[in-house]
Amino acid sequence: MKSAEISKAVELLAKGQVVGMPTETVYGLAARIDLPAGIEAIFKTKERPFFDPLIVHVSELSQLQNVTAGFPEVAKALADKFWPGPLTMVLPKNAKLNSMITSGLDSVGVRMPAHPVALDLIRAVGVPLAAPSANKFGKTSPTSAAHVRQEFQKENVFVLEGGDSQIGIESTVLLVKENGGKNTLSVLRKGHVLRSDIEKYLSSQGIAFEFVETVDKKESPGHMKHHYMPPVPLILCLDPKKSLEDLKKLIQSKMSELPDKIEEVAIVKPKGEIHNIAIMKLSEDPLLATRSFYAQLRDLAAQKPDCILLYKEVAHSGERWESLYDRVNKAASLIV
Ligand code: TXA
Ligand code: MG
Repeated sequence: MKSAEISKAVELLAKGQVVGMPTETVYGLAARIDLPAGIEAIFKTKERPFFDPLIVHVSELSQLQNVTAGFPEVAKALADKFWPGPLTMVLPKNAKLNSMITSGLDSVGVRMPAHPVALDLIRAVGVPLAAPSANKFGKTSPTSAAHVRQEFQKENVFVLEGGDSQIGIESTVLLVKENGGKNTLSVLRKGHVLRSDIEKYLSSQGIAFEFVETVDKKESPGHMKHHYMPPVPLILCLDPKKSLEDLKKLIQSKMSELPDKIEEVAIVKPKGEIHNIAIMKLSEDPLLATRSFYAQLRDLAAQKPDCILLYKEVAHSGERWESLYDRVNKAASLIV
């Protein structure tokens, strides 16, 4: 990365402004964790509600000192294996950390991203950066610098160029609890790092742990029913054999049942009669399908069809597809 670009980003961050930062998952909207003006600017720029906590990004483990309250053995092992990379760990929060970052929770999400530009930037700043995905609240996440510039055109956000995000969806969020030597883990958001990857690794290290499925709702904020929505309605069809004609009729008849808003996120509806359907094709390889999903949503929406249609193929099943279909389900206005 050209150091002039990094220097400009460092300067803006020092003024309490936000900067677009590439990561391997999606692009983030970054601010310094030690400047409240920057943290406020993240929420304001994204139009994000204050109840949704931010992830703190570090370039070295030592930067966690004033971020988390300790770093249990199990977290060390997971960091060793999966960092830098698409795994966010939710750990007890340090009292010194600005509670606006954590939405008042006593825990904090932390991650070391695997993108050279993100790591260069955090190192150059010398302070961890809080960064949510760089999109307006509830909208499609960005996987290129151009997406971020387009999303925040009005706000004129400076974005570091880092190419296309190679993972393409947000990190796995793992709640990590250590109590009297007992390790309890819960996946709060699915991502590229799978539960089975974590199980395999910890077992190979002889570290005892237990996965729990259900967590207190308060422990997992920011999980809206709808999220990642494109400006044109996405329809998910679970029956790959259903004809386009039948689908048109079905979508039309279900349209009136759609609410205007769910949990503050406006539901995108087809406008009037449906003529023009853009069909989304996903790769058969789950990694390639995931990498291109958000970009495809944007590209297809830009063609201004009446709706975008995705058929869920029979082959799109199994653990590797779960994180992508979690996003598809939330981005879809209608599932038929
Ligand atoms: O891949 C990613 O994680 C990207 C890149 C930029 O790093 N960031 C990202 O941030 O997806 P965001 O703000 O869009 O999603 C963060 C989510 C929150 O909505 C919440 O679900 C969870 O992470 N989270 C953060 N801190 C938490 C905490 N203390 N407890 C529970 N969940 C937390
Ligand atoms: Mg997000």
